[in-house]
Amino acid sequence: MNVSMKALPAAALLLFSLSMNSCQPHPPERIASPNGKLMAEVLLLGNGQLAYGVRYEDEPVIETSVLGFEFLDAPPLSAGLEITERASRFFSERWEMPWGEQRYVDNTYNEMRLGIRERQGLQRSFFLVFRVYDDGMGFRFEFPEQEHMDRVLITEEHTHFRLTGDHTVWWTPGDWDIYEHLYSSTPFSQIDALSKRNHPNLAQSFIPVNAVNTPVTMKTAGGLYLSFHEAALIDYAGITLEIDPVNLQMRSNLVGTEREDFKVQRHTPFHTPWRTLQIASRAGDLIESKLIVNLNEPNKLGDVSWLRPTKYMGIWWEMHIGKSTWGMEGSRHGATTGNARYYIDFAAEHGIGALLIEGWYTGWEHWIGHHDREGIFDFVTPYPDFDLEEVSSYAREKGVDLVMHHETSSAVTTYEAQMDTAFALMSHYGYDYLKTGYVGTIIPRGEYHHGQWMVNHYMRVIKKAAEHQVMLNTHEPIMATGLRRTYPNDATREGLRGQEFNAWATDGGNPPGHLPIVAFTRMLAGPIDYTPGIFNIKIEPYRPENRVNTTLAQQLALYVVIYSPMQMVADLPRYYEDHPAFQFIKDVGVDWEESRVLGGEIGEYVTIVRRERDTGNWFLGSITNEAGRELTIPLDFLEDGRYAAILYADAEDAHWEHNPTAYRIEEFEVDRTSEMFLKLAPGGGAAISFLRMHND
Ligand code: NOJ
Ligand code: CA
Repeated sequence: MNVSMKALPAAALLLFSLSMNSCQPHPPERIASPNGKLMAEVLLLGNGQLAYGVRYEDEPVIETSVLGFEFLDAPPLSAGLEITERASRFFSERWEMPWGEQRYVDNTYNEMRLGIRERQGLQRSFFLVFRVYDDGMGFRFEFPEQEHMDRVLITEEHTHFRLTGDHTVWWTPGDWDIYEHLYSSTPFSQIDALSKRNHPNLAQSFIPVNAVNTPVTMKTAGGLYLSFHEAALIDYAGITLEIDPVNLQMRSNLVGTEREDFKVQRHTPFHTPWRTLQIASRAGDLIESKLIVNLNEPNKLGDVSWLRPTKYMGIWWEMHIGKSTWGMEGSRHGATTGNARYYIDFAAEHGIGALLIEGWYTGWEHWIGHHDREGIFDFVTPYPDFDLEEVSSYAREKGVDLVMHHETSSAVTTYEAQMDTAFALMSHYGYDYLKTGYVGTIIPRGEYHHGQWMVNHYMRVIKKAAEHQVMLNTHEPIMATGLRRTYPNDATREGLRGQEFNAWATDGGNPPGHLPIVAFTRMLAGPIDYTPGIFNIKIEPYRPENRVNTTLAQQLALYVVIYSPMQMVADLPRYYEDHPAFQFIKDVGVDWEESRVLGGEIGEYVTIVRRERDTGNWFLGSITNEAGRELTIPLDFLEDGRYAAILYADAEDAHWEHNPTAYRIEEFEVDRTSEMFLKLAPGGGAAISFLRMHND
C-alpha cells in the first residue's frame, strides 16, 4: 500500500513533465557569460512565439519577454515560429582605442546564433544572435536574403523587456527629436513621460507616447544596476522604450516619420542594431563597462593618427549669456576678426589646443524661429567683419587649431547640398575639427532627429568628415551607440541637457543632481560635449536671472568625470586670467590610458580617476549632488613612485547656492600607499592632479 502510494505521485509527475514538453515545442536554448554569472535563454511559447529571458547569478533579471516584427505590406513575424539551427562560439580579443577613456579594451563573450523560421505560410527566416558578456549582453535580428523577403517595411519591432519588480528608474522622456531633458527618478510604474511635453526651452520636441529614451538606468530592490540601450545603430530608426506600468514591462517603440507609414525601410540582407542590457552589482561598473563599443565593428578608417583629442575654447558662451550675438543684427557681433585673435592669443598662451568660432558665416539673423530655414546658411560666406583668411593664418602661426561650426538649423537637405563646398573650404583652411548642430524641427518636414532618415544623414556626415580627416562633435545628435569604434572620427556629441541651459533656461538651469545622474545614464552611450569650466558661476553681470548650480571646484572635476576627447574650456578668457584654479584645466589630460570609477551612487555622487596617455599623470574628479559628503580615497591606483598631488577643493564654507566660488588649493607629495581625504560641499566637487615626480 505504502509502496504504491509513493509510486503514484512519481508517475503523475512524469506525465506532467511530458505534457509540459509537448506544449513547448523546443526546450529553451541557453547561453551564459564567460564567467557564468549571466545567462540568456530563448524559447518558443505555446503558439510558436519567440521569447527570451535573462538571469543573473541564477535570479531572473528579465522575465520571459516576447520578440517579433510588424510590417506594412506583409504579415507579422511573431507566432508560428520554429528554431531550425543553433551555433555557438566563444570569442575573445583585445583591441586598441586610437583615443579614448582607456587604451586597451577586452572584448570577450559567448555567442549563440539561432536560426528561426515560420513553420508555415511564407516560411520567412531570420537569425536571432545573442552575445553574452560578463558585464551585459546584446542581441539582434539578422535577416538573410530570401524569397519572400526583399524590401522590408517595418512598422514596429517588438522587443520587450519584462522587469522583475518596480525598480527605481532614472529616465528622460522618449522624445523623437531631442535628448535635452532633465532626468527624473521614479519607480518604474510611475514613469510619466507625457508630463514632459511642451518644455518652454526646447526648439523641437515630440513625445508621442509614455516612453523613455535610452540609455535608461535602473536599480532593483536587491541592489542590482541595469541599463538598457542599443549598439551600432546604422540605417535603422532609433529606439524608445514604451512603458507598461501595469505589467512592469518595456516595449520597443521605434522612432517614426510622418512622411511614411513605416518606421524602417531595408532590403535583405540586413540586421537590426543590438538591443543591449548592461548589468552590474556596483553602480560604477556600468561606467567602466565597454559593452556598447564592443558590440560595434572594428575601425574601418584605417590609419587615424590624424585624430587628436584636444581641449578647446569658443566664441560661444558669450553668445549664450547675451554678451554678444551670432549674427550682425546689432553692434555686438561675437565672431569678429579682432575677437578671434584675442581668443587665439589666450589659447596659445595657456596651451589650449583649439578654438571654436560660432556665428562667422552669414544668415544668423534669419535663424531660429524662422519658418523656412532652407537656404539660410551656406557655411562659406563670412560676415564682413570676419576675415577668414587672416583668422586662419593667425591661428596657424600661433599653433592653435580651429573648430569649424555648421549650425544646420535642421534644414538638412540644404546642408547636404552645401556639404561638399563647406568641407572643401575647411580643407583649404586646414580645419581638423567640426561641430555640427541641428536646432529646430527637421526639414524635410515630418522627419524626426532620431528616425532612420536622420540616422542615415548623421552617418553621411561622419563619412564625409572622415574623407576630410575631420574630428566630429555633433549637437542635437542621434544618441551615441558605440560607432566611434568603427568610425573613430565620430568623436563626441551633446545629446543631453548641456551647460548652455544654465545660461538661459527659464526653469532654473541644471540642478546639482543632474550630472551625478548623467554619469550613470547618458555617459554609458559615449563621450559627452557638456562644455564644463564655467568660473563666473553667477553669470554676472550678463544673466542676473541665471546661474550655474554647482561650485567652482565641481566645474574642475567635470574635466575628469564627464569624458570627452574634445573638452571645452567654456568660460570667457577674462574669468580664467590670473585665476589660480585655471591651472587644473591647463594640466588635465584629454586622452587616457585607463580610467577607473572609485565610487558612486546614481544621482548622488561619483568619483573617477584617469591616467593620461604619454605623461602617466593621474587626474581625479569627484562630484556630488545637493548633499555635501566626505570621502577617503586610497591612492593605490597610482603606479610606483612619487607624485605631486595638487588638490582643488571646495572651501570649508562653500555651497553651490550661496557660496559657490569659495575654493582652496593644497599640494601634497604622495605615493600609492597614501590616502587623501575629500570634503565635497553641497553641489560641490574636487579635482586632483597627480603629476609624476621624475627625480626619484
Ligand atoms: C545649440 C548648440 O547646442 C549650441 O552649442 C550652439 O551654440 C547653438 N545651437 C547654435 O548653433
Ligand atoms: Ca543643444
